Amino acid sequence: MKKPILSLFIFAFFIMQVYAQDISIPQLGMEAPSFKAMSTEGQVKFPSDYGSKWKILLSHPKDFTPVCSSELLELAHEQESFAKLNTQLVVISTDNLEQHTSWKTALEEISYKDKSPVEITFPLVEDADYSVSRRYGMLHSKEHSSETIRGVFFIDPENTIRSVQFYPMEVGRNVAELKRTLLALQHTYGKDNEVTPANWNPGEAVIVTHLTSEDRANIGKPDSPFYQYSWFLVFKK
Ligand code: BEZ
Repeated sequence: MKKPILSLFIFAFFIMQVYAQDISIPQLGMEAPSFKAMSTEGQVKFPSDYGSKWKILLSHPKDFTPVCSSELLELAHEQESFAKLNTQLVVISTDNLEQHTSWKTALEEISYKDKSPVEITFPLVEDADYSVSRRYGMLHSKEHSSETIRGVFFIDPENTIRSVQFYPMEVGRNVAELKRTLLALQHTYGKDNEVTPANWNPGEAVIVTHLTSEDRANIGKPDSPFYQYSWFLVFKK
């Protein structure tokens, strides 16, 4: 192969590799991709601005659309309870800052579900050049190539991706479930022996993944915190 053609081939291959990497969805256990962008709360350096808080990064398709508006209003009414859980909400879409600002102003005038209007204190981040959306795999071409999907990325205090959820355009997210997921992640954080069962809520029994032989021998006895449905399904009160 002639040298210029070979160089072109190598260059094209390199670009393809970079682009393929660029649009992948961050996997659980990976470090959250960092970015710097403008938002309704000024410049955001993510995730470093939020230190050792938990972070929830939420993408949505488009400002001023009805489902997205309902999601933002539900989040705004719960923002204080997320703050109490040491958690920073960050919302992002491919709209620009001007659109974000006027949408935020309009949302802050709405008495949603008979609740008083509320000021939105979490940042709405602009990603008009799609750079963040690509790095977080928020653009799903079969759904919509130019609008971010409804994505949720839960990020722990060490900036590790702990849960990734995607919802389709036509289904709004459930803020109570977002909070339940966060609480389950926080409950199990740093524990190597407890996991949460289906439909778990705070205060309920958890599943234990391994027991000492003494604990196993005491299962079901009045003083034991452990009970079992089967040898492979042991709960701790
Ligand atoms: C909405 O948020 O209402 C919406 C956004 C994109 C496509 C369909 C609905």
